[in-house]
Formats: sequence, structure tokens, C-alpha cells
Amino acid sequence: MAQLWGGRFTKETDRLVYNFNASISFDKKFYEQDIRGSIAHVTMLAKQGILTEEEKEKIIAGLKDIQSDVESGKLEITEEYEDIHSFVEANLIDRIGEPGKKLHTGRSRNDQVALDMRLYTRDEIEELDRLLRELLEVLLKLMKENLETYMPGFTHLQKAQPVTLAHHLGAYFEMFKRDRLRMKDIRRRMNYCPLGAGALAGTTYPLDREYTAELLGFDGPTLNSMDSVSDRDYLIELLSAMSTVMMHLSRFSEEIIIWNSNEYQFVDIDDAYSTGSSIMPQKKNPDIAELVRGKTGRVYGALMSLLTTMKGIPLAYNKDMQEDKELVFDAIDTTKGCLALFTGMIRTMKFNKKNMENSAKHGFTNATDAADYLVNHGVPFRDAHGIVGKLVLYCIDKNKALDDMSLEEFKTISPVFEEDIYDAISMKTCVEMRNTIGAPGKAAMEKAIAAGEAYLQEE
Ligand code: ARG
Repeated sequence: MAQLWGGRFTKETDRLVYNFNASISFDKKFYEQDIRGSIAHVTMLAKQGILTEEEKEKIIAGLKDIQSDVESGKLEITEEYEDIHSFVEANLIDRIGEPGKKLHTGRSRNDQVALDMRLYTRDEIEELDRLLRELLEVLLKLMKENLETYMPGFTHLQKAQPVTLAHHLGAYFEMFKRDRLRMKDIRRRMNYCPLGAGALAGTTYPLDREYTAELLGFDGPTLNSMDSVSDRDYLIELLSAMSTVMMHLSRFSEEIIIWNSNEYQFVDIDDAYSTGSSIMPQKKNPDIAELVRGKTGRVYGALMSLLTTMKGIPLAYNKDMQEDKELVFDAIDTTKGCLALFTGMIRTMKFNKKNMENSAKHGFTNATDAADYLVNHGVPFRDAHGIVGKLVLYCIDKNKALDDMSLEEFKTISPVFEEDIYDAISMKTCVEMRNTIGAPGKAAMEKAIAAGEAYLQEE
């Protein structure tokens, strides 16, 4: 049991208490950020004359050695230390002796952990952003390839009106684009450096907090020391943004599971992204999509959990806040994993375009357009709605699509129908007539794709 704070105590910590309290098993994840923060801290201490240049050099060299030894596997982060901060400091003192004992001058673990978590989160936000971008690129590519892939658009999971695959995927493009904007926004708001807040009330040393903030790539120092050590808002924001990413991935997964079902057969998930059954030889299951949908619950859970943890904590630091780490780490790893796998799955998925188009045809998705045809020939809309309703009933009875009716059949229901009805209700016409901003028509979609491309070029 290696602790930084033995001085005031006369008894050893109970082993169970030690284990309950320790965080090294999970905060070892940010050893790199801890060392990065310490290097900036001593650089500032030396600039301010609080440490000598020589002490600074020795400390930095020692810290860099620790980092490379951890990375090469020569040095293992073991659980005999209470947390990653103790591990690094104890190792430094072992290596360089006296100067190592000065590392923690003008610093508390409270501002140290606040810094480490921010640095870690900021790095991970960049990674999340990169993964979202990759997904957007795959979506845009698929959109470009499927401007004329007709499929039913649904409401209530009932076939409604024809759209294109490009249009359907374009809806997700917008969702994931907003997810990226949320990440960017969180990064901007959280990018202030808490180091120098001390335990809660700043320090008596003449620290240059602006300098440390600059060294670590922050936009400036945080402005209230009590807030600095007890703010976890940015983690709650990130958990919320990741919950939204997962919600989007989960909806999309649900659709892919439906599309991949024996009844729909709109898509074939690649063998590399499917699994089989131990008993039923014919099975090829969409497990990845199901797992993405399932793991969404973990990320929502982390959000609720941290909100609940934070709600009763008086200012300033309290140990409750140590609970932020496992939740956030797990949620980040889950979201990143799901994004990467989901992107791979849709990149390799086959779209059965014929089945999609047939499904649109046989679901009366062009019924609205048949009514519009009558309106264009002088029939009031309400009457047209009734006439087409009768047509649909007739087709259901005869088990055919609207397009499969003969002109005579059309005419027995309304004499207004002429030969041009076929063109008016073809999938192509139904989609291509819809060209207002955001609609599925090719011209409108081409504009949406150009806007998507311009966005990806800028961001
Ligand atoms: N492991 C602690 C955490 O994650 C580090 C801060 C400890 N500070 C303290 N006063 N005990 O919150």
C-alpha cells in the first residue's frame, strides 16, 4: 500500500478500505495525460523561480523515462499504488531522488485529477470526432451511389411514399453531422485549464496559470478555483452527446436488422460482420447491429449515473467524484467501438436494389401521386382520395400493384385516367417530382450531397 499522505496517520489503512478507495485500476488509463500535466506544471514552476532550471530538467527527464518505460512494458502500473498520481510521483522520487519531491509544489490531487480528466476527455473527443467523420464519409459515398435506388419511405413502419436510398441515408448524415457539432461545442466549452486551483482555494505560490494553460493547449485558465476542482459538467455534456450518438446508431441498427430480415431482404450484411447459430445451420445473424442497439443502454446508464452522483455534492471536491472515471471511460470506449464497427458494417453491406424498388411498388407508395394525377385533371382532392382508395382496395383484392392495372381497369374506377397515368405513378416520377429543399428528388439530393461535401471539406 503506497500512499502520499501517511504523515498524519498512526494506523495502517484497513485493506478493504484501501481497495475501496483506490482508483489506480482505472485511472492508470490516463498516465500519459498525468505526465503531460506534470511536465507543464514544473515548466511553469521553473519559469516562476519556484524550482531551479536544474530541478526542472531532472524532473522532466525522469517523467519522460517513466512514460517510455510504461510504454515499452518495462514498468508496470501495479495496484500497490493508490492512484496514478501516486504511482508517477513515487516512481519519480525513486528515480531522481530529492528534486522529485518538489513535483507536487503548488498542486493538489484535486486540481491534478481535474486536469488529467480534461486532457483525457479532450483527446477522446477528437477521436470520437474522427470516427463520426469517417461514418459521414461512408454515408456520403453511399448516397452518391444511390440517387436512383428507389425504396419505400415509411411512417408507422407502414409503406408511405417512395424515397431513395440516398435520401434515407441522408437523414442519418444530418443526425451524425449534428453529433459532430455537439462534440465541437463541448470541446470549446471545456477547454479551460483547472491546474493551479490547488485543493480548492488556489495556492500561495506565484503560479502563472495562464502560462500552464497555454502550454497544455487550453484557451485559458478556469476562473474560479472551487468550481475548477468540482466541475464535472463537461463530462455530463459528453455523456449526453454520446447518448445521442448511440441513439442514432441504435435507430439505424434497428432499421438494418429489419432490412436484413428474411421478410425484407433489402440488405445483406457482409459475412465478416455477421455471426452464425450453433444449432441452426441456415442462420446468419445481424449481431453487430443488435449489439450496437443493446450497448446504447450502457451509455444512457452512465449519463443517469453521473447526474445522480453529482446532484448532492457540496462544494468543493468530494470523493464521490472519483466515480466519474469508470462511467466515462466505459461510455467512451463503448461509443468509439460502436462507431467503428457500425461504419465497417455499412461500408461492406450489400443493398438489394431490386427488392427495395419492388417493395415500394407493391406497397401503394405511389397512391398519393395517383390522387395528385386526378387533381391535375380537375378532380377535387377529397374525391381523388376516395377514388384512389377504391383502386387500392381493388388491387388488394386482385393482389397486384397500381402500376400492374390495365387502363381499362383504371377507367372502370374513374374515366379521368388516361395512358399517361403509368408515367405519373412510376417510382421515378414519384421521386423526381419531389425537388423542394430536403426532398428525395435527384436534383434536390444532388444539392444536399454538395452541401455535405462542402461541410466535410471545411470540417
Ligand atoms: N482518485 C481521485 C479522483 O479520481 C483523485 C483525487 C483525490 N483527491 C483527494 N482529495 N482524495 O477523484
